[in-house]
Amino acid sequence: MLSSGYGGAKAPAASQTGLGFPQPLSEKYRPKTLDDFAGLRRPRAIFTSFARAPYESGWLLVGPSGTGKTTMALAFASMIHGEIHHIPSRECDLETVQQICQSCWYVPMGGGFHIVLVDEADQMSRAAQLAFLSKLDSTGAVPKTVFIFTANSTSLLEDRFISRCRLVEFTREGMAEPGFDLLARIWRQESESEPNPATLTAILEASNLNIREALMRLEVELMAPSECGMKATVCKSASPKPKIQSIDSLSPAQKAWVTRRAKWAAQQGANA
Ligand SMILES: Nc1ncnc2c1ncn2[C@@H]1O[C@H](COP(=O)(O)OP(=O)(O)O)[C@@H](O)[C@H]1O
Ligand SMILES: [Mg+2]
Repeated sequence: MLSSGYGGAKAPAASQTGLGFPQPLSEKYRPKTLDDFAGLRRPRAIFTSFARAPYESGWLLVGPSGTGKTTMALAFASMIHGEIHHIPSRECDLETVQQICQSCWYVPMGGGFHIVLVDEADQMSRAAQLAFLSKLDSTGAVPKTVFIFTANSTSLLEDRFISRCRLVEFTREGMAEPGFDLLARIWRQESESEPNPATLTAILEASNLNIREALMRLEVELMAPSECGMKATVCKSASPKPKIQSIDSLSPAQKAWVTRRAKWAAQQGANA
């Protein structure tokens, strides 16, 4: 195993009982409700209000990767018991739009709303973008349907598309403190030991406050706290020679974690 190098972290002392069945941390700690999110005060407030009285509309969630856009759309959908139609990244073409919008003419399961979630909407085909224009207009609106688009930027989206959506900005500003608290909470839960604040800060810095990336780094760090003492920003570049750590040098708790994680990964591979 390669150590990623945040330096100075103490090995988790107790067994990592938090992992009943190993999962990536970003899945295990994926926020399920709006209250579960770290930071994002304004987007949470907007979707809390909207959930009280939803209506047919289009929403555009814009911000850097790993800030919780997709997860918030899913949390909102589950809050209003919406029927989710998820179009993953780069799969949104004209045919998909037509098919999904057609199925939205049926009464949604649960009787509430259809939620059409289009990820990385700025990558959708031009024909798909044009097809959405009429669906987002009150004249051609699809009944009982909320469209939620996520994108890292609006640069590839047409003005007339953007102007038909309600814009919600996801920013990394103000994320340092809630991000730190999130990592600390997860560290404590997973290792039953106190985290080294410098390590958590370094992880957040190296991840540029991309919470998904920070959780990946935390996962590795929990397996084997680094000892190389390098600054995270240095370790992010490929230049420093990585320190090889053998599984024999891990504590029993870390070994158990690594073994269960490997089993889980193998099972995922077998199910794929
Ligand atoms: N603000 C946040 N609070 C808690 N977890 C977060 C937050 N932002 C991202 N995450 C974590 O990162 C993962 C990826 O988030 P995601 O919604 O896919 O980001 P995006 O769509 O902005 O790229 C989530 O599963 C979650 O574990
Ligand atoms: Mg996303």
